[in-house]
Amino acid sequence: MDPLTTFIDENRARFVDELSAWVRIPSISSDSRRAADVRASAEHLADHLRSFEPSRVEIWPTAGHPAVFAEWSEAPEGAPTLLVYGHHDVQPVDPLGAWTSPPFEPQVRDNRLWGRGVVDDKGQVYIHAKAIESYRRTGTPLPIRLKMIVEGEEEVGSPNLDALMQDHADALSTDFVCVSDTAMFGRGLPSLCVGLRGLAYLEAFVEGPALDLHSGSFGGGVLNPVLELARMLAALHDSQGRVAVPGFYDDVVALTPGERRALQELPFDEAEWLKSTGAPRTWGEAGYSTLERIWARPTLDCCGMAGGFQGEGAKTIIPARASAKIACRLVPNQEPDDIVRKVTEHLTRIARPGVRLRVKSHSGGRPYLSPTDHPIYEVAKRAFSRAFGKPTIFIREGGSIPFVRTIADATGKPCLLMGFGQPDENSHAPNEWLDLDNYHLGIKSAAYLYDEIGRMTSGSEGESG
Ligand code: BES
Ligand code: MN
Ligand code: MN
Repeated sequence: MDPLTTFIDENRARFVDELSAWVRIPSISSDSRRAADVRASAEHLADHLRSFEPSRVEIWPTAGHPAVFAEWSEAPEGAPTLLVYGHHDVQPVDPLGAWTSPPFEPQVRDNRLWGRGVVDDKGQVYIHAKAIESYRRTGTPLPIRLKMIVEGEEEVGSPNLDALMQDHADALSTDFVCVSDTAMFGRGLPSLCVGLRGLAYLEAFVEGPALDLHSGSFGGGVLNPVLELARMLAALHDSQGRVAVPGFYDDVVALTPGERRALQELPFDEAEWLKSTGAPRTWGEAGYSTLERIWARPTLDCCGMAGGFQGEGAKTIIPARASAKIACRLVPNQEPDDIVRKVTEHLTRIARPGVRLRVKSHSGGRPYLSPTDHPIYEVAKRAFSRAFGKPTIFIREGGSIPFVRTIADATGKPCLLMGFGQPDENSHAPNEWLDLDNYHLGIKSAAYLYDEIGRMTSGSEGESG
């Protein structure tokens, strides 16, 4: 066996221990009280990468949380450059009581590592870090120039990403991009993701009386903000599950018959999938399959609503205010700003004069769809088949990674989405886990990917973008 593979096999347990040490740092980007932890997470990663003798490691500050950049640049002249992207921030952990083991005290059970961020995305960042380590420690020359950018604000919509990329355009120039922040289609099914949805996120505030009113003395005399908001939210869809916001679908690129066929041919067990959700039945836009709805159709969801009395027992009031968080998942060629405007206008139109409406827009991201005929996909398939011994399937994901579209547009090259999660990994939920076989085979896949890119015949793919 080659020294890289042997090294990865022999260090399997240590690689898990070292990931666990990083997972212990609660780098929750949405919680301002955790800002020092997000910084500590960046420093921990930078220190770790430093031990693999990069030519450059830097912590890049932003107006929010810092990113980490590293580069290994001693590859021979003319070797292509690969930029690896990931994020070191994690999601909040509530409801804490639903965790079997504490989120920031990672544990191995059932050949899985359990903890917040183990798969989204610290484990997948370490897949690349450990692949690079394996080249270093075995004295195997890196066949390509490697760059790594690990962001600290992905889970809050990457609000400072554009500025970061402008400030460091030279450092981020590259021939290829690989992002490991998605899931495989199923157990042992190496998957390349060629589409991500975008996101437009807004929050609606509905205000009525200046303060809560006695519902006996005032009920019937003024409009109730909770009821009015509920009515407005209900008016965002029609009875067929279609989004009722005028113009919402205007820029949607329809699935081609070939794309629909390809989705139908995937080994998707809908009953099994439904079981994993715990919901009583599937629901969505009429005329589309579940995978089509999740991957290739835009959707509008309410992620939370607040208003009125939440305490024990009955309290008779007309609440002063109500609010709702609304997330739209977008597909090409929808634009987040345009969708925020259309939803805002619709809400404004349907709100009755008895309330005041205010809408706040949160940061989101643009959708991504890659052509699949680029030579990088053949290279990635070879790397996957060396690691997993299985053929690769092409999938999409319904989630969003703002960086992907931005870097693809900036380089003019497809962004390789080589993910090692599992569909039921509980990312963003209690009991997030990482499949340790995937972690191990992921490290091999990344190591082989660098090797295979190094073997690509230079020429059309060699120019920097
Ligand atoms: N890793 C996910 C993206 C993802 C989700 C990939 C589901 C594959 C399947 C990423 O960390 C994430 O959660 N993104 C946010 C982005 C948003 C805040 C702009 C998302 O999709 O909600
Ligand atoms: Mn992620
Ligand atoms: Mn996430």
